[in-house]
Amino acid sequence: MSDLKINMSNFEEVEKSLNSKSLRVCVIGIGRIGLPTALSFAKSGLQTIGVDINEKLVQDINLKKFPLKDEPGYEDIFNDVLGKKLFSATTKIEDAVSNSDLILLSLPTPMDKNNVPDYSALTIVSSQLSEILSPNSLVIVESTIEPGFIENKMISLISQSGRLKIKDNFSIGVCPENANPGEILHDFTHLPRLVGGINQNITKIITMIYKYVFSVDLIEMENCKTANAVKLTTNVFRDINIAFVNELSIMFEKLGIDTIKVLEAAKAKYNFQVHYPGAGVGGPCLPINSYQLLNTARRTGVKLSIIESARNINETMPDHVIKLTLDTFHECKIPVENSKILIMGISYKPNVKDIQLSPAKDIIKKFQNLGCIVHIYDPFFHSIEIFGLKVEDNFENILPEMDAVVIVTGHDEFKQIDINSFLKIKSKILIDSRGIIDPISIKNTNLIFRGLGRGTF
Ligand SMILES: NC(=O)c1ccc[n+]([C@@H]2O[C@H](COP(=O)([O-])OP(=O)(O)OC[C@H]3O[C@@H](n4cnc5c(N)ncnc54)[C@H](O)[C@@H]3O)[C@@H](O)[C@H]2O)c1
Repeated sequence: MSDLKINMSNFEEVEKSLNSKSLRVCVIGIGRIGLPTALSFAKSGLQTIGVDINEKLVQDINLKKFPLKDEPGYEDIFNDVLGKKLFSATTKIEDAVSNSDLILLSLPTPMDKNNVPDYSALTIVSSQLSEILSPNSLVIVESTIEPGFIENKMISLISQSGRLKIKDNFSIGVCPENANPGEILHDFTHLPRLVGGINQNITKIITMIYKYVFSVDLIEMENCKTANAVKLTTNVFRDINIAFVNELSIMFEKLGIDTIKVLEAAKAKYNFQVHYPGAGVGGPCLPINSYQLLNTARRTGVKLSIIESARNINETMPDHVIKLTLDTFHECKIPVENSKILIMGISYKPNVKDIQLSPAKDIIKKFQNLGCIVHIYDPFFHSIEIFGLKVEDNFENILPEMDAVVIVTGHDEFKQIDINSFLKIKSKILIDSRGIIDPISIKNTNLIFRGLGRGTF
């Protein structure tokens, strides 16, 4: 273990180390968020090392193969910082941590099959840090965690070996990540970040470091738990509002009202924040963040009924997509069993290559359980097997064999498709669960169209 020159709880020392670019950074967890974070620190001129247990990822990075092709702007930064030897990756956490001053944790915080948050990556690494963290280091947790996780869990895990004592010879704080996959460079350089430290001095130091690297507004909170509470509140707000429009859209469908038209007009009002209905809410954030707050509620003996209800609604939206499709099959007197259905879009949200908790998985399974033969197409996945199915190379070639097309993800590429292309669908059924097809464009065609939340036309 090398002697650390920098006392990370001393503002002036940290400031000097930034100016002289002598501060050494280690990012543990270099996935979707951690890699761009590490690259941003390296780009600012600070020597940065990324640690990951994924050997293939580490190997690829060191072979200069950029793994995040759907993150605009970062490939150039990646090539630049690797060329300048400011960034490298390793699986050896001990070497990397003991030779660094600042340790950033961008570890996954998923949930288990019972929707209980799984913090094992953070607890495992915290226990490792207890043995290997150099005295006077600063640990910053970027992962999304429940309020109180730092104070109640991580500090005691990092202190457990007896070598390290909080505020005495190590410090900790949070800077929760809030970037959107597919737009990380934009978000890192535009969105304000939240900061919370174990005391005000550490909060100021974290603010100084992030200002140096990202030059965005930093919002200083009084402690770690408040910063984490803000992060969860902003995401859960969205989950709840999507549930609200999902529920409304099902009623508007019955009333023959186009939900998209309602929302477009509603957003003209200054205090209405628009959210759109759809096939469900997936991804590594929103569903998990709601369950994180529900977990906190359970621990504290509180009931968060709106969040519970929102989760129930959003989780039943795949059923509604199935219902819309089946109703259409029945109307057309086409048997569902052995029918061929093309699912367009398997990512959990538009324009990203990411299927984490994607509603597409549930929808595919439900169609298969009904005896349908499901095909999938997504421009972000080519010729590989996903959800047990091979992704089609070209959607147009397969349309003449399909009874129905069901749009599950609103990729921009799908918005560009000429409506006449869908005329090739054998049984002419087109279901749009993302409001990307303008019903007017269907009017003079023989397509049988149903849009989620859009009534019948
Ligand atoms: N992806 C997003 O959209 C997003 C946005 C905001 C916040 N976040 C939060 O950021 C955090 C990271 O998310 P992500 O999407 O980057 O996850 P990710 O799965 O893409 O990356 C996590 C990385 O950590 C590595 N890892 C796991 N256990 C490890 C260990 N013990 N030691 C070293 N490496 C380990 C994994 O191999 C992986 O490469 C999560 O808390 C997530 O909630 C994610």
